[in-house]
Amino acid sequence: MKKLYGIMFLLALALVVSACSSESSGSDGDSDSGESAKEVEIFSWWTGAGEEDGLLALIDLFEEEHPDIAVENAAVAGGAGTNAKAVLATRMQGDDPPSTFQVHGGDELNEGWVAADKMQPLNDFYEENGWMDKFPQELIDLVSKDGNIYSVPVNIHRGNVMFYNMQVFEDNGIEVPTTFDEFFEVADELKAAGIDPLALGDKESWTATQIFENVLLGVLGPDDYKKLFEGEIGFDDERVVEATEKFGKMLDYVNEDHVSRNWQDSGQLVANGDAAMINMGDWAKGYFANDLELETNKDFGYFEFPATDGEFVVITDTFGLPKGIDNPDDVKKFLSVLGSVEGQDAFNPLKGSIPARVDADESNYDQYGKDTMADFQEARLVPSLAHGSAASEGFLTKVNQAVNIFVTQRDVDAFVQALESAAPEM
Ligand code: BGC
Repeated sequence: MKKLYGIMFLLALALVVSACSSESSGSDGDSDSGESAKEVEIFSWWTGAGEEDGLLALIDLFEEEHPDIAVENAAVAGGAGTNAKAVLATRMQGDDPPSTFQVHGGDELNEGWVAADKMQPLNDFYEENGWMDKFPQELIDLVSKDGNIYSVPVNIHRGNVMFYNMQVFEDNGIEVPTTFDEFFEVADELKAAGIDPLALGDKESWTATQIFENVLLGVLGPDDYKKLFEGEIGFDDERVVEATEKFGKMLDYVNEDHVSRNWQDSGQLVANGDAAMINMGDWAKGYFANDLELETNKDFGYFEFPATDGEFVVITDTFGLPKGIDNPDDVKKFLSVLGSVEGQDAFNPLKGSIPARVDADESNYDQYGKDTMADFQEARLVPSLAHGSAASEGFLTKVNQAVNIFVTQRDVDAFVQALESAAPEM
């Protein structure tokens, strides 16, 4: 069922978005013309502030190691792949795959491109590189289907993080909230002091979906959160209603102009003290530290999203080998660099994520990175819905639409019903 919906969704997406494809690389026509152009086209949505620094460092490293292979950086702007995924769908359906592309481990990869028979297995490649014990088994599982491995994880992002402006907290005598009740208490205090408690930039609705998934995790706990997305608990469960109500209450504390901001713009509100907190995956750490030059644990602090202490929403960016590309050996060279200790340690300190490998060099990471590595070892790991791991792309698209409507209308029943009717596509 999941597979069928995955394929139907990809086909539909491909038809709808063909107009967008001009943004991606125009090089393919040329490279088909006979001369075996040595070029690797890397497709992602990492453009601009907070997104591209890590990618550029990785590309530099690759070019140093393989000066004979040109790199085409075919990134399409838009947080969480809002536009890139649509462009990719068009290209894949038109048998024009990029050499390699960013894809989240979990359903986005396995029930999307693998189920559609668009990816090459990488088991031998993992063996050749000696990687079978270099990535945590949970991650290998997230990039595997039916015993085959289909991509190489470059990082692990955490989704259930609240970043906050330390000065604002200090000036207002605010303690880090650990429960929903505490969150609402401090939010009231901040609001009374004229500060927006929670920054939101839902120009693209995934940012609000991410808040909702974290509330769900806080209310259901890790086991039942997973059961929900495995279809073992229905969306008619009363705790889903409770989570939706809490989500709505949180939205009472966001900045008024949230619809006109993207995630970076909303992060700026926290950076400059107009807002106190933001729930964002830790790409925001990369943005704060590297682009805004804020200091970790001085200018901004971090804590787990309320009621999710000891839990870790896993988001992993991975790259694989599509079927039908001209130069798989060159692409494998890129994947080897991306999966190496050096590659991961060039990329992740800039990106805000932790390395996917178990043996990367901790000294390259700041306190946030070190804390997150320790938490990853100990925490209960759960997959992210908003970032493609927990459910199919078709289901996620419908949830994003429902969230978008809920943010303005706040109709709990309508929202829960929308989730229920989308559930068969999960
Ligand atoms: C990706 C991150 C990216 C974020 C914002 C997530 O889906 O996994 O790498 O930084 O979206 O674009």
